[in-house]
Amino acid sequence: MARKKIALIGAGNIGGTLAHLCALKQLGDVVLFDVVDGLPQGKALDIVEAGPIEGYDINLTGTNSYTDIQGADVCIVTAGLARKPGMSRDDLLGINCKIMRDVSENIAKYAPTSFVIVITNPLDAMVTLCKRVTGFPKNRVVGQAGVLDSSRYRTFIAQELHVSVRNVTAMVLGGHGDDMVPVRSYCQVGGQPVEQLIPGPRLEAIEDRTRKAGGEIVALLKTGSAFYSPASAAIQMAEAFLFDKKQILPCAAYLEGEYSIKDVYFGVPVVIGAGGIERVVELRLSDKEKSEMQVSVSHVQELVTAMDNVLAQKA
Ligand code: APR
Repeated sequence: MARKKIALIGAGNIGGTLAHLCALKQLGDVVLFDVVDGLPQGKALDIVEAGPIEGYDINLTGTNSYTDIQGADVCIVTAGLARKPGMSRDDLLGINCKIMRDVSENIAKYAPTSFVIVITNPLDAMVTLCKRVTGFPKNRVVGQAGVLDSSRYRTFIAQELHVSVRNVTAMVLGGHGDDMVPVRSYCQVGGQPVEQLIPGPRLEAIEDRTRKAGGEIVALLKTGSAFYSPASAAIQMAEAFLFDKKQILPCAAYLEGEYSIKDVYFGVPVVIGAGGIERVVELRLSDKEKSEMQVSVSHVQELVTAMDNVLAQKA
């Protein structure tokens, strides 16, 4: 059986971590691409040289040429600037628009049948642009945000209750900004609703920390943003596709009426399998959660309008 081909576009902090995870999990052959000469080649070589110790057999190469991503089954995009302290994700819009357009054109040209996972921020705008420029159907262009945001929420709840993270299930939906929506009514700890275990005010503090968790890491790192956890999140999505898992994961998906939201990328639970995003799962939300989703979607719509203005100026 031929191995799957995974193209990682961007070989920075997240790109390098993605390549390492692909090797450790032996997900397939990996091409690591970046515009910086030597960076993807150096990281690829470093990871390959750990193979005899870790016991992985993998074809992993670094490149500055898009022709090498030819025929990729999956593309994971991290190309672009990351946040520095004091910046919001939205502040990255101008520069990352230009990069995302270039990346998307090349994916359409060299990997026209691939499943594309976008990580570059501001996520909701970048995944929108990727779908537009590639012209791929909505099932093949997805944004990574909810898996990470939910993992952060699960981490904080597990720490609070001194239980395994594996016992905590949760969904954080909405846009990948400070008004994302931790859906409390679907958060369970060993099957018990979280609201029965953590008092309301404490839960609110945890949810607030979840919304700002990316910024917490940026403030600590000072020179960039989170990379281990975003990489793990994207790999979980890639594995669901590569192994046709039909796994329900919260992702930025293009909505056409689901949740009464139309023509916008938004974080919702979806089923990922060999067909990419195979369907959107509609949860029954509380009135408070519904109104929080509305606030979040209007922020995403504003962000996309801002992106359109940036693109119009550049045109
Ligand atoms: N094509 C390909 N790669 C590019 C391009 C381009 N046009 N422009 C920049 N890059 C590369 C940079 O050379 C760099 O190696 O993108 C890489 C980004 O890496 P980092 O700066 O380390 O950023 P990282 O932490 O990996 O985050 C990447 O994901 O979560 C988001 O907000 C984050 O937008 C950021 C992205």
